[in-house]
Amino acid sequence: MPRILNTGKSEEEKTFELSIRPQRLEEYIGQEKAKNTLKIYIEAAKQRKDTLDHVLFYGPPGLGKTTLAGIIANELGVKMKVTSGPAIERPIDLVKVLINLSPNDVLFIDEIHRLNRQVEEVLYPAMEDYTVDIVQREGGSGASRRIPLPPFTLVGATTRAGLLTAPLRDRFGVVSHMEFYNEKELQTIILRSAQVLGIEIDKGGALEMARRSRGTPRLANRFLKRVRDYAQVKFDGVITEEIAAEALDFLEVDRLGLDATDRSILTTMIEMFDGGPVGLDTLAAAIGEDAGTIEDVYEPYLLKNGFINRTPKGRVVTDKTYHHLALAAVGR
Ligand code: ADE
Repeated sequence: MPRILNTGKSEEEKTFELSIRPQRLEEYIGQEKAKNTLKIYIEAAKQRKDTLDHVLFYGPPGLGKTTLAGIIANELGVKMKVTSGPAIERPIDLVKVLINLSPNDVLFIDEIHRLNRQVEEVLYPAMEDYTVDIVQREGGSGASRRIPLPPFTLVGATTRAGLLTAPLRDRFGVVSHMEFYNEKELQTIILRSAQVLGIEIDKGGALEMARRSRGTPRLANRFLKRVRDYAQVKFDGVITEEIAAEALDFLEVDRLGLDATDRSILTTMIEMFDGGPVGLDTLAAAIGEDAGTIEDVYEPYLLKNGFINRTPKGRVVTDKTYHHLALAAVGR
């Protein structure tokens, strides 16, 4: 099954994303609400020569949370240290990161909902008072010593704010929801990336790719690379609407951006569960996919675009799904 819609990042992609990643708020396309909010708070912090309050970004993967964190650091003129919830296993790992920050630096913690309890406990006083308590084993008493930290801005990212514990969520001064991008925004992103990478593409080609990128810049940029390969080998290298459509059909990404896993979710719901309602775990077992991946990666787009609905009894498919799959089956 092609994994082109898997929204996780590969190593190659991290390098690629770095090369086309916008560096300033001005260059960043879309997410107007988040951008406007940040613009004010960044400006205010700079005017006061103060530390920016902690920022939480939540929303589906691939929408630019890491990119925005990098932009915040650039706009503030500070460094960004990047880590993730699963990477910080022990409290001491976090303490080491914190004490090595410079004043006003940005600490970006991806998948922050995956921090374990003990690590989270270290984060609370760090966020609130810029201090950490270190328990001293020597001497036997287990007394703790409080050490001051440089003031810093924590930027946390999570796929769903509901996964965060309340005490952690409450310690963020700025909470921003990342939205899916519209076609126009994705088209602009694709044209910008193509220009940075020296890829020839026309507006129609960019629009066709935008239509199939399920509102997600990471996918749009991934398609750009794959479609470039296709256009280079099969045609003269210039990406037009027809060539983009043909290449994306070849990648099994359909007219509405659904890939093989999306279609497997929908056809399984119809064929095995009569269109639903079906519970998430039952569905996940039926298609051999991880329940968390379905919920975080696939479902948000299927829900937002009216392919499925959530009911108290489980997920159900909609008329749109029957219609779309029938058309896809006859190649339209
Ligand atoms: N590349 C990926 N996401 C982007 C965005 N939101 N704006 C500009 N370029 C991008």
